[in-house]
Amino acid sequence: ARRKRVLSGIQPTGGLHLGNYFGAMRSWINLQELYDCYFCMVDLHAITLPHDPIALQEDTRKAAALYMACGIDPAKSVIFVQSHVSAHAELAWLLMTQTPVGWLNRMIQWKEKSRKVGSEEVGAGLLTYPVLQAADILAYQTDVVPVGEDQKQHIELARDIAERMNSRYGGKPWKKLGGRGGRIFKVPDIMMPPAGARVMSLTEGSAKMSKSAELDASRINLLDSPKDVQNKIKRAKTDAGEGLEYDNPERPEARNLLTLYALATGHSLESAQREVGSLRWGDFKPRLADAMVAMLEPIQQRYNEIRADDAHLTQVLSEGAAKADATASRSLERCQQAMGF
Ligand code: ADP
Ligand code: NA
Repeated sequence: ARRKRVLSGIQPTGGLHLGNYFGAMRSWINLQELYDCYFCMVDLHAITLPHDPIALQEDTRKAAALYMACGIDPAKSVIFVQSHVSAHAELAWLLMTQTPVGWLNRMIQWKEKSRKVGSEEVGAGLLTYPVLQAADILAYQTDVVPVGEDQKQHIELARDIAERMNSRYGGKPWKKLGGRGGRIFKVPDIMMPPAGARVMSLTEGSAKMSKSAELDASRINLLDSPKDVQNKIKRAKTDAGEGLEYDNPERPEARNLLTLYALATGHSLESAQREVGSLRWGDFKPRLADAMVAMLEPIQQRYNEIRADDAHLTQVLSEGAAKADATASRSLERCQQAMGF
């Protein structure tokens, strides 16, 4: 039997941050031992908001190098750039024609992001990109999608689209066309990490850490210098309470920063609270910054090594694209056949 398949991706622009790491990348590392894994940089998604054309390719390479620096091994997993595999965009069009606008209007990220840009100016791609995301997933007959909590609704949409495609075109029509009939797409499952599924902003307790937030101080980027990390943690929002707690809903800041400490040190929330829960903010923050810097240091060191060998990175991405293309184009063909092309 084939190994179960995993696919996940991150938008490469704006740099990757701790939310991306704890919500997604960290769980990818263990999955690659047990699953057939595909990890991509979703550059086609990155252009749904205003972007800098000069920075796009460089940001995409940075993200690829960071995947590898965090432990994604090109000998075990397929690492590729979304735009290098044309089946994603082609399949997205086929799926888009079958997706009700009402389903897309309900997406929380659409509501939030379009509100910021203003509805007249907003690109149609911002509304339809969850369909491209469904194509990303379904093109690989993906069993499991490891992502953070913010993506839950989009994965459910991908499931709904897969089910609709299978029931509309998977049976009789496909057989009558001389095809095999049956399922066109595997219906994927979501997998969220037990801790870190939602890493919060450092400056706004109720928002998730995100690269699209205006304030750079709201997030810790994986490539931030020790000095930057220390400054950001120093400035991170606190409350008037004493000590750190993870289970007091009245104190989101205390919970967020204690959670970051637990994640950075690899301890459970309970033991992190036993360890540092009685500290004052002024004593805790430097401990948190030290733990963060220590966690990031080996990643940044490997990152620099990888960036020093540009030819190797190019080769990894071109081999990755070839492997991804072989898988994705088969699914595209199935879908095309079933729909009558
Ligand atoms: P961003 O929101 O920073 O633009 P993406 O949309 O590219 O990031 O998401 C890439 C991955 O990182 C997804 O799996 C997403 O769920 C995860 N992720 C993003 N932000 C967070 C966060 N604050 N906490 C946990 N996971 C997150
Ligand atoms: Na996002």
